[in-house]
Order: sequence, then C-alpha cells, then structure tokens
Amino acid sequence: MNADRRAIADELLATAREHDEPLEDRLQRYRVVEPETAELLGLLVRATAARRILEIGTSVGLSTLWLADGAADSGGYFTSVDIDPPRTEQARATLRRARLQADLRTADAATVLAGAPDDSWDLIFLDADRSAYAGYWPDLVRVLRPHGGLLAIDNVLSHPDEVAEIGALIDAEPGITSATLSIGAGLRLVTRGSALAR
Ligand SMILES: C[S@@+](CC[C@H](N)C(=O)[O-])C[C@H]1O[C@@H](n2cnc3c(N)ncnc32)[C@H](O)[C@@H]1O
Repeated sequence: MNADRRAIADELLATAREHDEPLEDRLQRYRVVEPETAELLGLLVRATAARRILEIGTSVGLSTLWLADGAADSGGYFTSVDIDPPRTEQARATLRRARLQADLRTADAATVLAGAPDDSWDLIFLDADRSAYAGYWPDLVRVLRPHGGLLAIDNVLSHPDEVAEIGALIDAEPGITSATLSIGAGLRLVTRGSALAR
C-alpha cells in the first residue's frame, strides 16, 4: 500500500476508534478490524493471487481499503457488502479518496451468499454478525472456489463462543485445512482442497 493510502487507513482507524470509544451499544460501534489484520488481508489477496474477492461486513471500510488495495494489485474484482447504508456510503467516500475501485453494496449477507452461483469467489472475508455465520456455512462452501479458495473469519479468539458453531461445521467438512492466527482479534483461515488441483 502506498504512503497516501496508508495515511488514509491510519486516519480512518483513529476516527473509527474515537467514534466507538464512548458508545455502550456494540451495534452502534463501527468495530473496524485491528490494523495488523487489515494489512494481512491485503497480503493474502496478493499471495493467493485472488481475483474474485468478497467481504461480508464493510462497516466504514478499514479492511475494505486494504482488500481493495490488494485487488488493485492482483487485477481482481472486489465486492463488499454491509446491511447499513450510511456505513456503505462512508466506505465509498474513503475508497474514492484512496482512488480505489470496489463494488460496495448495501445488502444482507445471507441474501448475497444465497444468490451467488457456485464457485463465485477466490477469497471471502467474513466480519459481520457472528450469530448468523453457521447459517451461512452451506453457501460459503458452495460459493468459494472448490480448490484452494480461502475463507478468513475475524474475531475467532476475541469471541470464541460466538463462532463455535461455524467452527464445528468447518471441522466436520471433508477436505478442509484451517489455521487460526493470533493476530488482531484472531483470524481463522480456511481452505478446501489445494490450488494445485485446479
Ligand atoms: C465488525 S463490523 C465490520 C468491520 C469492517 N470489516 C472493517 O474492518 O472496517 C461488522 C459489520 O457487519 C455489518 N452487518 C451485520 N449484519 C450484517 C448482515 N446480515 N449483512 C451484511 N452486513 C452485516 C454491520 O452493519 C457492521 O458494519
């Protein structure tokens, strides 16, 4: 990420934390990812040469900025969805400022996943309403590239109980390889098969 974009990311992180700090209601908070997680997402897009990237949970767009920056390098197509229209608009303004392209949509994750054809995405970042994740699992498996597609789930160490159900479904799925990284709030990386089998 170039220096101008990094400055925008740093400013966004500071603004989001300032916004969240006095708020009691978790859902009112922007809850952007930890900066090291955002940076890792940009790395993963590049390292896996992901060209079709989906983010579920844009908020005001910190992870979005890093994913879009990675997608710009990989020549990829990046979509990010959030159920909250003002957040989508804020993220759109941030990306415009950073001169980055993305398809930002105000939409419900379940609808987006259910409406996607099989094998739609090379990389999916899941960072939304954790209570719904287990219900997304059948569609996540279906829409992710079958050989070597990558799913990244945030907050698996900060909120283990809330991701336990999808964790059990992942563990029970044949052909899965997964690892949990102690970065930020804990990021679980999940892949199926191998990119070599494509
Ligand atoms: C933890 S925040 C995402 C933070 C963002 N990834 C970042 O780093 O800037 C979770 C977001 O998920 C959104 N969300 C919650 N339920 C959703 C759903 N059913 N579909 C889409 N987005 C949803 C919320 O509006 C919220 O902005």
